Amino acid sequence: MSEKRNGNSPVVLETRAITKVFGGLTAVNGFDLEVREGEISSLIGPNGAGKTTVFNAVTGIYRPEGGRILFHREDITGEAPHRIVAKGIARTFQNIRLFPNMTCLENVMAGRHSRSSAGLWSSLVRTGAQVREEKGIRAVAEERIRQVGLWELRNEPAGSISYGSRRMLEIARALAAEPSLLVLDEPSSGLNPRETEDLMVFLQDIIRREKVTILLIEHDMNLVMGISDWVTVMDEGRKIAEGTSAHVYSDPRVIEAYLGVETGGKG
Ligand SMILES: Nc1ncnc2c1ncn2[C@@H]1O[C@H](COP(=O)(O)OP(=O)(O)OP(=O)(O)O)[C@@H](O)[C@H]1O
Ligand SMILES: [Mg+2]
Repeated sequence: MSEKRNGNSPVVLETRAITKVFGGLTAVNGFDLEVREGEISSLIGPNGAGKTTVFNAVTGIYRPEGGRILFHREDITGEAPHRIVAKGIARTFQNIRLFPNMTCLENVMAGRHSRSSAGLWSSLVRTGAQVREEKGIRAVAEERIRQVGLWELRNEPAGSISYGSRRMLEIARALAAEPSLLVLDEPSSGLNPRETEDLMVFLQDIIRREKVTILLIEHDMNLVMGISDWVTVMDEGRKIAEGTSAHVYSDPRVIEAYLGVETGGKG
């Protein structure tokens, strides 16, 4: 059961019938997703539904065998990850990926470098222009690290800070790339209720203040219900429902997918 969307804001990201196969397993099966500008969209579904695989296709880690991915109406299917970041999609990972021996600030700077002309590794040999660029990168990184509340920890190794702080640091790193679409894979996973609440407030705040759109995969139902403008539900590689959170949570197929109970719903 799908709900009609009030279609005022432009579509930022669209997947059209994407399919991703691993060996004999079709992880994503003709999957359609539509993300609108300035909204918080959530992708939910049981374990193994194919959610992370959709994110990996969108961010260029996997090339789908079928279908197309459009970002601001441009076909980005199969583009390399660094090109997709440069176009304006930045992400975090379900399993945090930071450089544990680098400081928090350096990790965030690495996110900014991913978008700069010099690149992280070629910045060893510096021209005047590169030195100026480096200063700009530092300034952006400092602003982002302050924004996520980790200013005091900026010179600590990323591996030494708490798990909750590492999750926020990863978001700061993604934001340092100045994305127009921020893609978060289970940002609240491993957070305590207080940290989850702070994350909710933080995400709502950046949506309000910045020209950014957010797509998240999330298991915490309070978080999804609390902040999502639009929810897409996935099961076994397919979209089984979409709509506002209230609509989706009353859908018998969604209840069935989550609880594994027959509800007698249609379809
Ligand atoms: N690289 C891979 N090689 C083989 N199979 C994979 C690979 N990545 C994912 N899969 C399989 O594809 C299916 C979908 O996985 P995916 O990680 O996308 O699910 P998910 O919805 O993100 O689940 P979870 O909520 O547990 O994170 C699973 O059956 C998974 O085992
Ligand atoms: Mg996943």
